[in-house]
Amino acid sequence: MTFHYYGHSCYSITAYGKTLLFDPYITGNPLAGDINIDDIACDYILITHGHVDHILDAEAIAKRTNAKVICSWEISEWFKDLGDVHPMNTGGSYDFSDFKVKCVHAVHSSGLPDGSYGGNAMGFLINIDHKTVYCAGDTALTMDMQLIPSWAKVDCAILPIGNNFTMDAKDAARAAVMVETKKVIGVHYDTFGYIEINHEEAKAAFEEKNVELKLLKINESTSI
Ligand code: NI
Repeated sequence: MTFHYYGHSCYSITAYGKTLLFDPYITGNPLAGDINIDDIACDYILITHGHVDHILDAEAIAKRTNAKVICSWEISEWFKDLGDVHPMNTGGSYDFSDFKVKCVHAVHSSGLPDGSYGGNAMGFLINIDHKTVYCAGDTALTMDMQLIPSWAKVDCAILPIGNNFTMDAKDAARAAVMVETKKVIGVHYDTFGYIEINHEEAKAAFEEKNVELKLLKINESTSI
């Protein structure tokens, strides 16, 4: 399974020739100027919540690729002209045959760019290629994360670490302990001044908990 980082909280997971793209935000990211969204191939687009830095490029990519969009009911209503949209909500799971997803609690807000209500902010537990990846979305540290290992053994967690709008690295390291994973890829940092972080301090916070933190360069891939 390959993980590819497009910057901010946008990344893809590819297994068995199917690509899942998460929270597409590229054209607005000052650090992702080298990426052309027309070059991105995907079969599914998963959206954790309605904020512009998670959905900006979803419509353009979905229209070009015909990818199935998976998101909250409220965001699905906002995107209803797209055609292939699958609404979900916190606590629900679904087998898309290429992978399974369970929507889990995230402590965050979810207003859409025009002020519409976006429903609950969510995280996703993705079961694909005999592995489980916890895609936390934007979230604070929450005791609800302790439920996650009761549903699945988490092979890798994709956690926000930028502070200000989400967990910082110290809280994210505690989240990794709660979800019982030893492997974390950090997202949602450095994009804007509010969330610039010290990479060495972030890595040290995870080392203290004996968890590996990977910080990828934009457009870099790693295997999970
Ligand atoms: Ni957000």
